[in-house]
Amino acid sequence: MKVFNIGIIGFGGFGKFLFNAWNQLDNIQVTAIADINPEAVSGIENIQYFSDWKELIRLESIDLVAIVTEPHTHKEISKACMLAGKHVLIEKPLAISSKDAEEIIHTRDQTGVVAAIDFIMRFNPLIQAIQALTQDGAFGKLRRVAVENYAQDEQLLPDHWFWQKDRSGGILIEHAVHFIDLVHFISPSKYKMVNGLKHNRNAFQEDQIMANVLYENGLIATHYHSFARPGFFETTDIKLSFDIADIQLHGWIPLTADVKVLVNGKSNEMLLSNPLFECIKTESIDTLTDESRPKGWGINGQENSKDKHIVKSSGVSYEVVEMITGRFSIGASKQEVYANCVKLSLLDVLQKVSDPSHSLMAGLESGLDSLKIAELATVSARSNA
Ligand SMILES: NC(=O)c1ccc[n+]([C@@H]2O[C@H](COP(=O)([O-])OP(=O)(O)OC[C@H]3O[C@@H](n4cnc5c(N)ncnc54)[C@H](O)[C@@H]3O)[C@@H](O)[C@H]2O)c1
Repeated sequence: MKVFNIGIIGFGGFGKFLFNAWNQLDNIQVTAIADINPEAVSGIENIQYFSDWKELIRLESIDLVAIVTEPHTHKEISKACMLAGKHVLIEKPLAISSKDAEEIIHTRDQTGVVAAIDFIMRFNPLIQAIQALTQDGAFGKLRRVAVENYAQDEQLLPDHWFWQKDRSGGILIEHAVHFIDLVHFISPSKYKMVNGLKHNRNAFQEDQIMANVLYENGLIATHYHSFARPGFFETTDIKLSFDIADIQLHGWIPLTADVKVLVNGKSNEMLLSNPLFECIKTESIDTLTDESRPKGWGINGQENSKDKHIVKSSGVSYEVVEMITGRFSIGASKQEVYANCVKLSLLDVLQKVSDPSHSLMAGLESGLDSLKIAELATVSARSNA
């Protein structure tokens, strides 16, 4: 078994999380760390430490470098790594502008190394289950995604790089790209129109921002992100409205999702055979009542003449037999799922290194696509202010 030598550049909060998770893998050893702050590596043993990342990438033994520094540094560091012949796993956002992201992609093409973005949501088994069932048509077309994210800012002091637009790009670029990419993963389509709205707490803290996106396939997504409330109210809810299903994901590392779906024999089987799915209630379409209109509304008898097994959504007809209420759940803690996602993300890149025919789960193009939308919405939001 080949053991890959990994270097990490940027050893703050997330760099340490990656280090701890990756250390549990058999075919990985993190052998070098670079961080401008020497205190970042205190207590870490058997590691080559550099205050200057340029020295780390000179090490011949390093196969892959993880770039876990602030977003505005991703372009310079990732380009230099690739030019030094290192494979790279770049933290989101790929860069703070799509122009910089395109330069990174150009360098990957020039050097031929393997390069990916760390979109960990793509490795969450619950999201993978929903994506696969969507692709198989179990829920009908996805028409609407609403992301509502309330994060705390009590630990994001006003002088943190997160608030500085020239270092983070702003909330949509720094954070919302995860969720924009989630939409692209579940229901790929090109964007048609993007706009935004925002609120500034003061001259430098843009603490609430929203992106609205219309896609060519008709999907409308909204992404609302607030970094303003106490930790007690920290919540992330993602609602997916399909033609014949409603799915509500809970948490930014979703561990559960509530589902209500109209099924026929085939989709019923697809759903019930998914190991993460638990059926709570099944109701025959024959006995279900549509309560969208109160009794007595409309022409007498009209509802009786309708074939209940054919429902229409956005003008599309679906043959259905039952309504299923249920839940996807992973049955592991957030810590376990998150750590597993970062392990799978690294292993996916290394699989591509070993086998060039492997398709990356999160290639750099996915980083560029989500960044373009975040960037357009940010420009729109700031021009509307
Ligand atoms: N994929 C995810 O789930 C996820 C989660 C959290 C953070 N992130 C991303 O990871 C990156 C880092 O975030 P963080 O929360 O760890 O930030 P952080 O501020 O905690 O850590 C950044 C570290 O980089 C170091 N650093 C900065 N400039 C450097 C340079 N030029 N050379 C070497 N070291 C340098 C800092 O000293 C610090 O230790 C960001 O891009 C962030 O968006 C991704």
